This record gives sequence, structure tokens and C-alpha cells, in this order.
Amino acid sequence: MAINKMGMSMKTKILSLLRNTTEYISGQELCEKLGVSRTAIWKVINQLKEEGYVIEAIQNKGYKIQEYPDILTKSEIASRLNTEWAGRELYYYAEIDSTNIEAKKKAEEGASHGTLIVADKQTAGRGRRGRSWEAPAGSNIYMTIMLKPDFEPNKASMLTIVMALAAAKAIQEVSTRTCAIKWPNDIVVNGRKICGILTEMSAELDYIQHVVIGIGINVNQKIIPEELASNATSLYLEGGEKLIRAHLIERSMYYFEHYYDIFVKTKDLSGLAEEYDSFLINRGKAVRVLDPKGEFEGIASGINELGELRVTKDDGTEVLVYAGEVSVRGLYGYV
Ligand code: BTN
Repeated sequence: MAINKMGMSMKTKILSLLRNTTEYISGQELCEKLGVSRTAIWKVINQLKEEGYVIEAIQNKGYKIQEYPDILTKSEIASRLNTEWAGRELYYYAEIDSTNIEAKKKAEEGASHGTLIVADKQTAGRGRRGRSWEAPAGSNIYMTIMLKPDFEPNKASMLTIVMALAAAKAIQEVSTRTCAIKWPNDIVVNGRKICGILTEMSAELDYIQHVVIGIGINVNQKIIPEELASNATSLYLEGGEKLIRAHLIERSMYYFEHYYDIFVKTKDLSGLAEEYDSFLINRGKAVRVLDPKGEFEGIASGINELGELRVTKDDGTEVLVYAGEVSVRGLYGYV
């Protein structure tokens, strides 16, 4: 795992040192490691306390974080990231219209491949097919990673699958809840959606300018608006513990970088399909394919290297279902 903590703010460095020390770390040691005065350290420690960190300070021993509240700040996220490129350029907003919109702006301003935008709240969160995405403050994850890939535009839609796999893997690691992927890219717990992904691209015919992959995860949300509650939920509402969102962001970026690096080797999903299928809720199940050219039913078995869903019809023929055209439902509801 590459560790690149250069260019971090002092607050980020102090947080990182405190988190990576199980015992107390003395003011003297912090001064030496960071090359700043004791007063400077003391000021940052006070800022952190004001933000909600519970930090114990014992004379002759030093500082120790006693409690990690769910704080979402740039320093909290940056001090956790251990990626090489995913999220190394990082922007955090307490409130924004949409992290996808902001990521596109940053791309046009010259931001680097892997730039990550995170917000605590969105006022114009966007979902797929022109829908909106409910994005209240203080409990969920809204983030967008911006990529400047070096492959043809027709490959970009597969990145949504790469992100779905990364997010599922991260959620599975951080939460006690069991999550699954509803093809192609919704993540569900107990049959209801906790995570959606929206990929948008700016491209010429044969050249990608940038791709933004936005992901919304309902983490600690306590109330779901009534009109959404039949299909949507949060990890917390499904009996999960309250999670530290920055931890889940860090894990998602870690796995996204890992799976993306596998994806670009072949520029398809051949190296990821098996692991993706292990999360697939539709695998081995009867599905109804809502194809505008004619609905049909069959048994889904997994994805191919292009991310298409293999569905075997009653007459034994296998159909490859392409996500852009159709949606898939369980025979008795959403999954
Ligand atoms: C879906 O409809 O399932 C996709 C939802 C995507 C929501 C996320 S939240 C972060 C990013 N910013 C947006 O405006 N949308 C995506």
C-alpha cells in the first residue's frame, strides 16, 4: 500500500499521527515530527476538540484520541486515505448542489485523474434517468470521483460496475450488514436500496475528456421519506451500527483504485466479473427484463466481460442484457 502523505495540512498530519498511535503521543514528538512549535500543536489539538474529537491530554505522556465521532471534514478524510491516486486531490463541502456537477467543473479547471469531491449535503442531488437523489445533511455519503482515462468512450459505462463492486466490498468490510448488488449498480440490504451510482461522461467520438462517477450511500440516516421507503433504506435502519463515514469513504477509494487498476489492464471486466457475481443478488434468480422492445422473464446467471447480464429464457436461449436499454426486476418486486 503506497503511503503518500506529502502536501497534507498540519491538521491532517496530526490526525493521522494520533490515529496511528495506540498509546499517547507526546507534544514533543509531534513538534519534532512536524517541525513546528508546541503552541502550534496545541492550537490544532484545540481545533480538533472543537470539531468534536474527544482527545485526552495527560501531562508527561501526551495526547490520545479517546473517541472517534462521525466527523466529515477534509482533514478527517485525507488523514485516512492511503491510495496512490484515488482521492489524492480532495475537495470537501458542507453543502453543495451536486458533487457530480462540481467534479465536472473541477475537471474543466484542470483537476487531476482521481480527484474526489465529497459533500455532507446536496441541494440538487442527481439520480439516474433524470431523477433526483435525496441528500440530507449529517448522515450519508455523497461523493464523486473524476477520472481522465486513456480508453475509448464506449468502455466508460463499465466503470459504474467497477464502482459498484468497490462500494459493495467496502460496505461489506465496514458494516455488519450483508449487502448485495442489484444489477447493474444498485446496492441493496434486505431487498432495499442503500446506494446508487451515477456515471456521466464528457467525450468526443473517440476520446474521453473526463468521466465522473457519483455515489450516494445511505449510511446513518434515521428516517427515509415515506414516498421512498418501499424501495430505499439505510445501513443504520437495517440494524447496522452507526458508522464513521470517513472510514467507508477511505475503504471505497481503496477498493476502487484496486479494481480500476485491474480493469484498465484488459479494458473490460474479465478480471472482476467473478467477484462482482459473488455480490449479485439476481444470480440464479428469476428476473423480469423490462426491455422496451418486449418484456421477458428468465434466470440471471451473472455478467460477461462487458458487464451485460446473462439471462437464460425458458426455452434455454441465453440473452445478454445491456444496462443502458433496460432494467431488471425480481418477479415479485424490486429485487
Ligand atoms: C441512482 O439513481 O441510483 C444514482 C444516484 C447517485 C447519487 C449520487 S450522490 C453523489 C453524486 N452526486 C449526485 O448528484 N448524484 C450522485
